[in-house]
Amino acid sequence: MLKSRRTLSIMLALALVTGLFAMAGCAKTATPEPAAPAETPAAPTYTLVAPGVLTVGSDTAFPPFEAMNGSVAEGFDVDLAGALAKEMGLTVNYTSQKFDTLIPQLKAGGTFDVIMSGMTITPDREKEITFSTPYIDSNQSIAVVKGKFSQLDGNDAAAINTAFTGKVIGVQSGTTGEAWAKENIKGAKQIVPFDDTLAAFSALNAGKVDGVVNDLPVSAYLLKTSYTDDELIAEIPTGEQYGIGISADNPDLKTAIDTAFDTLKTSGEYRTIYMKWFGVEPPTE
Ligand code: ARG
Repeated sequence: MLKSRRTLSIMLALALVTGLFAMAGCAKTATPEPAAPAETPAAPTYTLVAPGVLTVGSDTAFPPFEAMNGSVAEGFDVDLAGALAKEMGLTVNYTSQKFDTLIPQLKAGGTFDVIMSGMTITPDREKEITFSTPYIDSNQSIAVVKGKFSQLDGNDAAAINTAFTGKVIGVQSGTTGEAWAKENIKGAKQIVPFDDTLAAFSALNAGKVDGVVNDLPVSAYLLKTSYTDDELIAEIPTGEQYGIGISADNPDLKTAIDTAFDTLKTSGEYRTIYMKWFGVEPPTE
């Protein structure tokens, strides 16, 4: 009896000690760990025209990069904007603007946060605004009504000038196509700037202009889908790259967009969007 009582008290003492340790253990794990940085993303330090929304300025008549389907913008740039915004925890508002007003409007501020409009990164534009990492390559081209001109070598600007001497060229106002035509087709009777690319193609098919100088992927797409009476007679290897235009006053927005873009490249989402609109693999860098 005595022995078993002692045993009992030893057991009780042991239980008490174990309990204390257990409690100590509990108390330890219950202490809140300092929050891991990944769980608390730093609040964005960039500014937005509308909180929680990436507001995009774009000339939405430039398929397959951006075009209006009824009241909804669609295209490669539109999908890319959506994916970037999602990555940044934002929604998108894609607004239609006239191409040659995009940079002045972005600089003035208050209307949209970024330009996504198949805009080529150029040294002149970089004096006004900053650009994201380049997101796609492009070149120039010349479209004419089928059978009116013979094929030309896009590297031979002199031959192009000769072919269009005394002719009328249509371009979109404020574009690199306009700049190329002005610089290289000095013999042209006139270089007519249109508000949008589609207006330049309408003028071509109405016989008002003889050729349209415009970004190759867009002209190729338009010829395939709508302007089947036209053909490309020159592909001009200008080696352009499109970028997302961002105000120089908003450098953290550039950082956030570039980071999100890297993620889309690694995740394969960029490839999916590219395949959707171009039907081929994106070029490997
Ligand atoms: N890439 C050319 C440029 O930057 C043409 C862009 C025109 N874009 C448009 N959405 N209309 O000048």
